[in-house]
Amino acid sequence: MPLSFRHLTSTKQLSRADADAVLSRAAAMDKVLAKGKPDDRMHGKILAALFYEPSTRTRLSFETAMLRLGGQVITADGFQFSSLYKGETIEDTITMVSQYADIIAMRHPEQGSADKAASVSLVPFINAGDGPGQHPTQALLDLYTIAKERGKVDGLRVAMVGDLKFGRTVHSLTFLLGLYKDLHFTYVSPKELKIPEKVTSFLKEKDIPFEEMTTFDGAFDADIIYMTRIQKERFADASEYERLKHVYVLHADQLKGKNATVLHPLPRVGEIDPDVDALPNAAYFRQAKNGVPTRMALIEMLLEG
Ligand code: NCD
Repeated sequence: MPLSFRHLTSTKQLSRADADAVLSRAAAMDKVLAKGKPDDRMHGKILAALFYEPSTRTRLSFETAMLRLGGQVITADGFQFSSLYKGETIEDTITMVSQYADIIAMRHPEQGSADKAASVSLVPFINAGDGPGQHPTQALLDLYTIAKERGKVDGLRVAMVGDLKFGRTVHSLTFLLGLYKDLHFTYVSPKELKIPEKVTSFLKEKDIPFEEMTTFDGAFDADIIYMTRIQKERFADASEYERLKHVYVLHADQLKGKNATVLHPLPRVGEIDPDVDALPNAAYFRQAKNGVPTRMALIEMLLEG
Protein backbone atom coordinates (compact mmCIF):
# COMPACT_ATOMS: atom_id res chain seq x y z
CA MET A 1 0.00 0.00 0.00
CA PRO A 2 1.43 3.42 -0.89
CA LEU A 3 1.95 6.00 1.83
CA SER A 4 -0.85 8.53 2.23
CA PHE A 5 1.52 11.48 1.62
CA ARG A 6 4.01 12.55 -1.03
CA HIS A 7 6.16 14.81 1.16
CA LEU A 8 7.03 14.13 4.80
CA THR A 9 7.27 17.28 6.91
CA SER A 10 5.52 16.22 10.13
CA THR A 11 4.63 12.98 11.88
CA LYS A 12 1.09 14.34 12.16
CA GLN A 13 0.67 13.36 8.51
CA LEU A 14 1.01 9.65 9.23
CA SER A 15 -1.90 7.29 9.67
CA ARG A 16 -1.49 4.12 11.72
CA ALA A 17 -1.38 2.20 8.42
CA ASP A 18 1.47 4.45 7.20
CA ALA A 19 3.45 3.92 10.41
CA ASP A 20 2.98 0.15 10.32
CA ALA A 21 3.95 0.06 6.64
CA VAL A 22 7.18 1.95 7.32
CA LEU A 23 7.99 -0.42 10.19
CA SER A 24 7.55 -3.51 8.07
CA ARG A 25 9.49 -2.03 5.15
CA ALA A 26 12.31 -1.04 7.55
CA ALA A 27 12.42 -4.64 8.78
CA ALA A 28 12.69 -5.79 5.14
CA MET A 29 15.53 -3.29 4.62
CA ASP A 30 17.32 -4.70 7.66
CA LYS A 31 17.28 -8.05 5.84
CA VAL A 32 18.70 -6.44 2.69
CA LEU A 33 21.50 -4.94 4.82
CA ALA A 34 22.14 -8.25 6.57
CA LYS A 35 22.81 -9.96 3.21
CA GLY A 36 25.78 -7.64 2.80
CA LYS A 37 25.39 -7.70 -0.98
CA PRO A 38 25.01 -4.65 -3.21
CA ASP A 39 21.40 -3.78 -3.98
CA ASP A 40 20.60 -1.56 -6.93
CA ARG A 41 16.90 -0.90 -6.79
CA MET A 42 17.54 2.89 -6.72
CA HIS A 43 19.97 2.74 -9.61
CA GLY A 44 19.87 6.02 -11.56
CA LYS A 45 18.05 7.89 -8.78
CA ILE A 46 19.54 10.89 -6.97
CA LEU A 47 18.95 12.06 -3.41
CA ALA A 48 19.71 15.72 -2.70
CA ALA A 49 20.84 16.10 0.93
CA LEU A 50 20.56 19.76 1.91
CA PHE A 51 21.85 20.40 5.41
CA TYR A 52 21.77 24.04 6.48
CA GLU A 53 22.23 23.13 10.16
CA PRO A 54 24.81 20.80 11.77
CA SER A 55 24.17 17.08 11.41
CA THR A 56 26.18 13.88 11.52
CA ARG A 57 23.86 10.88 11.97
CA THR A 58 20.88 12.16 10.05
CA ARG A 59 22.87 13.25 7.06
CA LEU A 60 25.19 10.26 6.95
CA SER A 61 22.36 7.79 7.44
CA PHE A 62 20.30 9.40 4.66
CA GLU A 63 23.32 9.21 2.37
CA THR A 64 24.13 5.65 3.44
CA ALA A 65 20.49 4.63 2.86
CA MET A 66 20.52 5.93 -0.72
CA LEU A 67 23.95 4.45 -1.48
CA ARG A 68 22.99 1.05 -0.01
CA LEU A 69 20.06 0.99 -2.44
CA GLY A 70 22.32 1.71 -5.38
CA GLY A 71 21.31 5.37 -5.79
CA GLN A 72 23.47 8.46 -5.75
CA VAL A 73 23.67 11.53 -3.56
CA ILE A 74 24.29 15.22 -4.15
CA THR A 75 24.79 17.46 -1.14
CA ALA A 76 24.79 21.05 -0.04
CA ASP A 77 25.70 21.95 3.48
CA GLY A 78 26.66 24.89 5.63
CA PHE A 79 24.30 27.85 5.51
CA GLN A 80 27.09 30.33 4.85
CA PHE A 81 28.14 28.52 1.70
CA SER A 82 24.64 28.39 0.22
CA SER A 83 22.51 30.72 -1.85
CA LEU A 84 20.17 31.00 1.12
CA TYR A 85 22.95 33.03 2.73
CA LYS A 86 22.86 35.35 -0.27
CA GLY A 87 19.17 35.85 0.38
CA GLU A 88 17.59 33.23 -1.88
CA THR A 89 14.24 31.99 -0.61
CA ILE A 90 13.78 28.36 0.44
CA GLU A 91 11.12 28.09 -2.25
CA ASP A 92 13.55 29.11 -5.00
CA THR A 93 16.27 26.76 -3.74
CA ILE A 94 13.86 23.82 -3.65
CA THR A 95 12.27 24.61 -7.02
CA MET A 96 15.74 24.43 -8.52
CA VAL A 97 17.03 21.38 -6.60
CA SER A 98 13.86 19.44 -7.38
CA GLN A 99 14.75 19.75 -11.05
CA TYR A 100 18.11 18.05 -10.35
CA ALA A 101 17.21 15.30 -7.92
CA ASP A 102 14.53 12.60 -7.57
CA ILE A 103 14.07 13.08 -3.84
CA ILE A 104 15.17 15.74 -1.34
CA ALA A 105 16.02 15.65 2.37
CA MET A 106 16.54 19.04 4.01
CA ARG A 107 17.55 20.29 7.47
CA HIS A 108 17.08 23.99 8.10
CA PRO A 109 17.18 26.14 11.26
CA GLU A 110 13.79 27.77 10.70
CA GLN A 111 10.61 26.18 12.00
CA GLY A 112 8.16 25.94 9.10
CA SER A 113 10.91 25.82 6.45
CA ALA A 114 9.97 22.23 5.59
CA ASP A 115 6.38 23.19 4.77
CA LYS A 116 7.63 26.00 2.54
CA ALA A 117 9.91 23.57 0.75
CA ALA A 118 7.25 20.89 0.35
CA SER A 119 4.81 23.42 -1.09
CA VAL A 120 6.99 23.90 -4.18
CA SER A 121 8.98 20.67 -4.48
CA LEU A 122 8.47 18.80 -7.75
CA VAL A 123 9.81 15.58 -6.18
CA PRO A 124 9.21 13.90 -2.79
CA PHE A 125 10.54 16.10 0.00
CA ILE A 126 11.58 14.91 3.48
CA ASN A 127 12.03 17.17 6.51
CA ALA A 128 15.30 16.22 8.20
CA GLY A 129 14.69 18.76 11.00
CA ASP A 130 13.23 22.28 10.82
CA GLY A 131 14.63 24.22 13.77
CA PRO A 132 12.65 23.51 16.95
CA GLY A 133 9.75 22.20 14.83
CA GLN A 134 9.77 18.55 13.74
CA HIS A 135 12.12 15.73 12.83
CA PRO A 136 9.82 13.03 11.44
CA THR A 137 12.43 10.54 10.20
CA GLN A 138 14.05 10.50 13.64
CA ALA A 139 10.64 9.70 15.12
CA LEU A 140 10.17 6.85 12.65
CA LEU A 141 13.53 5.33 13.52
CA ASP A 142 12.72 5.83 17.21
CA LEU A 143 9.44 3.98 16.68
CA TYR A 144 11.21 1.21 14.78
CA THR A 145 13.71 0.92 17.63
CA ILE A 146 10.97 0.78 20.27
CA ALA A 147 9.13 -1.94 18.32
CA LYS A 148 12.35 -3.94 17.91
CA GLU A 149 13.61 -3.54 21.47
CA ARG A 150 10.28 -4.11 23.24
CA GLY A 151 8.47 -6.34 20.74
CA LYS A 152 5.45 -4.01 20.84
CA VAL A 153 4.47 -0.35 21.02
CA ASP A 154 0.97 -0.50 22.49
CA GLY A 155 0.70 -0.20 26.25
CA LEU A 156 4.16 1.27 26.91
CA ARG A 157 4.98 3.90 29.51
CA VAL A 158 7.24 6.49 27.89
CA ALA A 159 9.28 9.09 29.78
CA MET A 160 10.86 11.93 27.81
CA VAL A 161 13.56 13.87 29.60
CA GLY A 162 15.49 17.09 29.03
CA ASP A 163 14.85 19.93 26.61
CA LEU A 164 11.26 19.25 25.70
CA LYS A 165 10.68 22.79 24.45
CA PHE A 166 13.28 22.96 21.69
CA GLY A 167 13.80 19.18 21.24
CA ARG A 168 12.02 18.59 17.95
CA THR A 169 12.45 14.81 18.15
CA VAL A 170 10.25 14.74 21.27
CA HIS A 171 7.46 16.59 19.45
CA SER A 172 7.60 14.32 16.40
CA LEU A 173 7.80 11.12 18.45
CA THR A 174 4.85 12.04 20.67
CA PHE A 175 2.63 12.67 17.64
CA LEU A 176 3.73 9.37 16.10
CA LEU A 177 3.26 7.29 19.26
CA GLY A 178 -0.17 8.88 19.56
CA LEU A 179 -1.23 6.48 16.79
CA TYR A 180 -0.77 3.51 19.15
CA LYS A 181 -2.94 2.27 22.02
CA ASP A 182 -2.77 2.67 25.79
CA LEU A 183 0.41 4.72 25.98
CA HIS A 184 1.30 6.86 28.96
CA PHE A 185 3.73 9.77 28.77
CA THR A 186 5.83 11.36 31.50
CA TYR A 187 7.57 14.60 30.54
CA VAL A 188 10.54 15.53 32.73
CA SER A 189 12.04 18.97 32.15
CA PRO A 190 13.02 22.15 33.93
CA LYS A 191 10.07 24.53 33.94
CA GLU A 192 11.84 26.76 31.38
CA LEU A 193 11.97 23.87 28.87
CA LYS A 194 8.49 22.42 29.25
CA ILE A 195 6.79 20.39 26.55
CA PRO A 196 4.98 22.92 24.32
CA GLU A 197 1.25 23.44 24.28
CA LYS A 198 1.02 22.14 20.69
CA VAL A 199 1.99 18.71 22.09
CA THR A 200 -0.08 18.74 25.29
CA SER A 201 -3.16 19.91 23.42
CA PHE A 202 -2.69 16.99 21.01
CA LEU A 203 -2.55 14.56 23.94
CA LYS A 204 -5.61 16.07 25.59
CA GLU A 205 -7.54 15.95 22.34
CA LYS A 206 -6.72 12.26 21.94
CA ASP A 207 -7.34 11.52 25.60
CA ILE A 208 -3.83 10.14 26.08
CA PRO A 209 -2.71 10.25 29.74
CA PHE A 210 0.43 12.24 30.53
CA GLU A 211 2.13 13.96 33.42
CA GLU A 212 4.70 16.75 33.59
CA MET A 213 7.37 16.98 36.27
CA THR A 214 10.72 18.58 37.04
CA THR A 215 12.20 15.66 39.02
CA PHE A 216 14.18 12.95 37.23
CA ASP A 217 12.95 10.19 39.58
CA GLY A 218 9.63 10.10 37.77
CA ALA A 219 11.35 8.61 34.71
CA PHE A 220 12.92 5.47 36.10
CA ASP A 221 9.83 3.28 36.20
CA ALA A 222 8.97 3.87 32.54
CA ASP A 223 9.44 1.24 29.80
CA ILE A 224 11.17 3.79 27.60
CA ILE A 225 13.42 6.58 28.89
CA TYR A 226 13.97 8.97 26.01
CA MET A 227 16.83 11.28 26.99
CA THR A 228 17.53 14.50 25.07
CA ARG A 229 20.24 17.11 24.84
CA ILE A 230 19.63 20.66 26.05
CA GLN A 231 19.54 22.44 22.68
CA LYS A 232 22.30 25.01 23.15
CA GLU A 233 21.87 26.57 19.72
CA ARG A 234 18.27 27.60 20.44
CA PHE A 235 19.08 29.67 23.56
CA ALA A 236 19.15 33.45 23.24
CA ASP A 237 20.95 33.66 26.60
CA ALA A 238 24.18 31.62 26.95
CA SER A 239 24.11 31.79 30.78
CA GLU A 240 20.64 30.24 30.78
CA TYR A 241 22.08 27.30 28.81
CA GLU A 242 25.00 26.96 31.24
CA ARG A 243 22.58 26.87 34.16
CA LEU A 244 20.41 24.14 32.62
CA LYS A 245 22.84 22.00 30.62
CA HIS A 246 23.45 19.25 33.17
CA VAL A 247 20.10 19.30 34.85
CA TYR A 248 19.46 15.57 34.27
CA VAL A 249 22.30 13.06 33.98
CA LEU A 250 21.53 9.36 33.78
CA HIS A 251 23.93 6.98 35.56
CA ALA A 252 24.04 3.17 35.56
CA ASP A 253 23.12 2.90 39.26
CA GLN A 254 19.78 4.66 38.62
CA LEU A 255 18.84 1.77 36.32
CA LYS A 256 19.58 -1.03 38.78
CA GLY A 257 16.73 -3.54 38.74
CA LYS A 258 14.91 -1.56 36.03
CA ASN A 259 14.04 -2.92 32.65
CA ALA A 260 13.66 0.46 30.95
CA THR A 261 14.99 0.85 27.42
CA VAL A 262 17.15 3.97 27.22
CA LEU A 263 16.96 5.94 23.97
CA HIS A 264 18.59 9.20 22.88
CA PRO A 265 18.52 10.73 19.38
CA LEU A 266 22.18 11.70 19.95
CA PRO A 267 24.49 13.54 20.11
CA ARG A 268 24.67 13.24 23.89
CA VAL A 269 26.57 15.97 25.65
CA GLY A 270 26.71 14.69 29.19
CA GLU A 271 23.08 13.56 29.74
CA ILE A 272 23.98 9.86 29.75
CA ASP A 273 27.06 8.82 31.64
CA PRO A 274 29.19 6.37 29.61
CA ASP A 275 28.76 3.88 32.48
CA VAL A 276 25.25 3.24 31.07
CA ASP A 277 26.64 2.10 27.70
CA ALA A 278 27.46 -1.45 28.81
CA LEU A 279 23.97 -2.11 30.22
CA PRO A 280 21.46 -4.07 28.13
CA ASN A 281 19.08 -1.12 28.69
CA ALA A 282 21.29 1.16 26.56
CA ALA A 283 19.69 1.10 23.11
CA TYR A 284 20.87 4.46 21.75
CA PHE A 285 23.62 3.17 19.49
CA ARG A 286 21.33 0.46 18.10
CA GLN A 287 18.79 3.27 17.63
CA ALA A 288 21.29 5.26 15.54
CA LYS A 289 21.98 2.15 13.44
CA ASN A 290 18.25 1.80 12.79
CA GLY A 291 18.34 5.15 11.00
CA VAL A 292 19.69 3.48 7.88
CA PRO A 293 16.99 0.81 7.28
CA THR A 294 14.27 3.26 8.28
CA ARG A 295 15.46 5.86 5.78
CA MET A 296 15.95 3.19 3.11
CA ALA A 297 12.31 2.23 3.65
CA LEU A 298 11.09 5.79 3.41
CA ILE A 299 13.11 6.63 0.31
CA GLU A 300 11.83 3.56 -1.49
CA MET A 301 8.22 4.08 -0.42
CA LEU A 302 8.16 7.76 -1.38
CA LEU A 303 9.69 7.02 -4.76
CA GLU A 304 7.14 4.26 -5.41
CA GLY A 305 4.62 7.08 -5.12
C1 NCD B 1 18.63 15.40 16.97
C2 NCD B 1 18.24 16.60 16.14
O1 NCD B 1 18.97 17.00 15.24
O2 NCD B 1 17.16 17.12 16.42
N1 NCD B 1 19.74 14.73 16.44
C3 NCD B 1 19.57 13.83 15.43
O3 NCD B 1 18.98 14.11 14.42
N2 NCD B 1 20.03 12.60 15.64
C4 NCD B 1 18.78 15.70 18.41
C5 NCD B 1 19.72 16.77 18.81
O4 NCD B 1 20.40 17.40 18.01
O5 NCD B 1 19.82 16.97 20.02
